[in-house]
Amino acid sequence: MAGQIPNTMKALVADRSIITRLSNYSCGHSSGDGVKIQTIPVPEILDNEILVRVRSVALNPTDFKHIDIVAPRGAIIGCDYSGTVARVGAKAAGYWQVGDRVAGFIHGGLYTDRGSFAEYLKIPGDLAWKVPPSVSDEEAATFGVSAVTAMLALNARLGVPWLDSGKSQGRTDTPIFIYSGSTAAGLYSIQLAKLAGLKVVTTASPKSHDLVKEYGADDVFDYRSPTAVEDIVRAYPNIDRALDCFSEGSSTEFCADVVRRSRGWVVTLLDSGKRDLDGVRVDFMLGYTVFNAEFQWLPPLGPKFPKVPSDNEALRRFYASLPEIAPRLKTPPLKRIDGGLENLTAGLDMLRQGKVSGTKLVATIF
Ligand SMILES: NC(=O)c1ccc[n+]([C@@H]2O[C@H](COP(=O)([O-])OP(=O)(O)OC[C@H]3O[C@@H](n4cnc5c(N)ncnc54)[C@H](OP(=O)(O)O)[C@@H]3O)[C@@H](O)[C@H]2O)c1
Repeated sequence: MAGQIPNTMKALVADRSIITRLSNYSCGHSSGDGVKIQTIPVPEILDNEILVRVRSVALNPTDFKHIDIVAPRGAIIGCDYSGTVARVGAKAAGYWQVGDRVAGFIHGGLYTDRGSFAEYLKIPGDLAWKVPPSVSDEEAATFGVSAVTAMLALNARLGVPWLDSGKSQGRTDTPIFIYSGSTAAGLYSIQLAKLAGLKVVTTASPKSHDLVKEYGADDVFDYRSPTAVEDIVRAYPNIDRALDCFSEGSSTEFCADVVRRSRGWVVTLLDSGKRDLDGVRVDFMLGYTVFNAEFQWLPPLGPKFPKVPSDNEALRRFYASLPEIAPRLKTPPLKRIDGGLENLTAGLDMLRQGKVSGTKLVATIF
């Protein structure tokens, strides 16, 4: 089997200088694709790793944000993937076999040998999950950034019971607030909270109200309504936990206003730098901490992120349970981008322009 694996592969790699990326950061927009298709070596695996032949990928806002600002020239772009195992390291052989269906999340956009928008990728064997027959390749690819973010925010941060803990019994009246439930992260969060027995209160545009209810939200409010905070607090005065799946503009202040009466707690997905909003604790979380490796954006001056071993443990736990749990979760509605690697930039540009709502962009690589 190893003989059938080529030495080189095609990948979508970053192609912007540090000057252009700093300029994009300071002016808030970018021009041009900022990526190119390049032929590069197929990654060499370590003993604990597997090599994956990538079949489907899902696109995330973090992909274009990396291209525009963070990704050094030559870094492979892309985080979410599904595919088949093509090679197995000696220490991963107990669990994986060549030909197994596999999916996961990889730290794309920072390294020249790691990223999902490529024909092959490498990943530690315990940081990927076995895809059951009832889940398609495209569906499996969506259990990356969005689903892992939902798990990390709810189970590892906000104390929502894990679905594999046996505590996810039936319905309770304990409410949780999820701002922007129609985001991909929001749709997975609604389901994880709901299956754990919580009452899910969310916000979305009116056009997405049916969608978030279909995914399990008990109550939904229009975030643009001038009385939205007041309406939520009146209906749910004891709400004390919030996940801000938008984390831009005044969304975190909105969440803080919802949980303030209960001296509550907000987890955000983008960093405003604020850690306390008039008595409400605010924590920023970043999904890339699941890989248990320090990293830095825009070195030498950009932010550094330390290892978080407990987040790595959370990912292992989540992926160990996903073969059983995934068939109980609905992926966000899928929208296909045709044309393989060559056309991923079209999907990235839709995300960049804010043209994606209530759907997850997926593409087939081979
Ligand atoms: N920290 C992390 O690890 C992490 C992980 C995942 C995502 N993120 C970040 O979290 C954000 C969401 O990511 P995603 O992939 O879940 O997003 P997404 O699916 O691309 O989000 C699209 C949604 O954003 C909503 N939206 C647009 N403008 C809005 C506004 N002004 N106020 C409230 N909602 C608005 C829209 O909802 P309506 O149609 O209802 O208006 C739309 O459905 C991104 O900024 C992403 O970079 C961070």
